[in-house]
Amino acid sequence: MVILQTENLKKAFGGLQAVNKVNLTIAKGELSSIIGPNGAGKTTLFNLITGYLPADSGKIIFKGENIFGLPHYKIVRKGIGRSFQRTTIFPSLTLFENVRAAILSHKKKNFKFFTDSNSLEDVNEATFQILESLNLPDKAYLISSTLAHGDQKLLDIGIALALEPDLLLLDEPTAGMSPEERWNTVAMIQKLWKTRNMTVVFIEHDMDMVFSISQQIRVLHYGEIIAEGQPEEISHNRAVIEAYLGEEMI
Ligand SMILES: Nc1ncnc2c1ncn2[C@@H]1O[C@H](COP(=O)(O)OP(=O)(O)OP(=O)(O)O)[C@@H](O)[C@H]1O
Ligand SMILES: [Mg+2]
Repeated sequence: MVILQTENLKKAFGGLQAVNKVNLTIAKGELSSIIGPNGAGKTTLFNLITGYLPADSGKIIFKGENIFGLPHYKIVRKGIGRSFQRTTIFPSLTLFENVRAAILSHKKKNFKFFTDSNSLEDVNEATFQILESLNLPDKAYLISSTLAHGDQKLLDIGIALALEPDLLLLDEPTAGMSPEERWNTVAMIQKLWKTRNMTVVFIEHDMDMVFSISQQIRVLHYGEIIAEGQPEEISHNRAVIEAYLGEEMI
């Protein structure tokens, strides 16, 4: 079953075609990655899918519904969550407050919710569950700005999880982390993917990480998908080796 499909998706910035005729088919439940050199259009592609930027043309179908042109908040409600290349937390709030605020904003659409005190306990419980799944419960009451960079990135994922996405898009979740933090984060992403039954697509520059956990890899180059397949196929793909990975892979 397909969860997300794009057809001929395009976005230009002036004369620069940042995303060009992108046809994506993401299967429900897959854990996959998008790779490509700096400036290939990866973040822009996520921005188009999540409605942060309007696409110029094409189709975006999520769970069978056309979401092209919808504003970001409506797309979030339909079940697409994302983390950012740079974090989006409220720095002066604690971790607990950041995640709880995200859960509350997600539940707000149900007005009755606020009149039910049991629901507020549920929110606190859900907040702790998310912090636990990210190995952050001991830091729940720290001010977010005091966190190390790696923990801030995890909190950013926690905020995305608070919105209970069916499809989670992670933009360089391990950027700026130490090697140890990276592998811990990889293990955590795998666990979240399994326990929460999500479809996860991540953008990543660390090839060890990409090749070790992706079921599918898609390669963007100058806004176009130049290859798609399982890690084994991608690592032997001439176009990928020549156009992007270069000597690293040879
Ligand atoms: N809002 C914008 N206005 C103008 N140009 C933009 C904008 N956003 C991105 N671009 C340009 O579009 C191209 C694709 O950028 P994008 O950020 O999507 O690349 P990326 O693959 O995510 O790169 P990186 O690996 O460095 O994060 C780049 O040339 C970038 O400079
Ligand atoms: Mg990017």
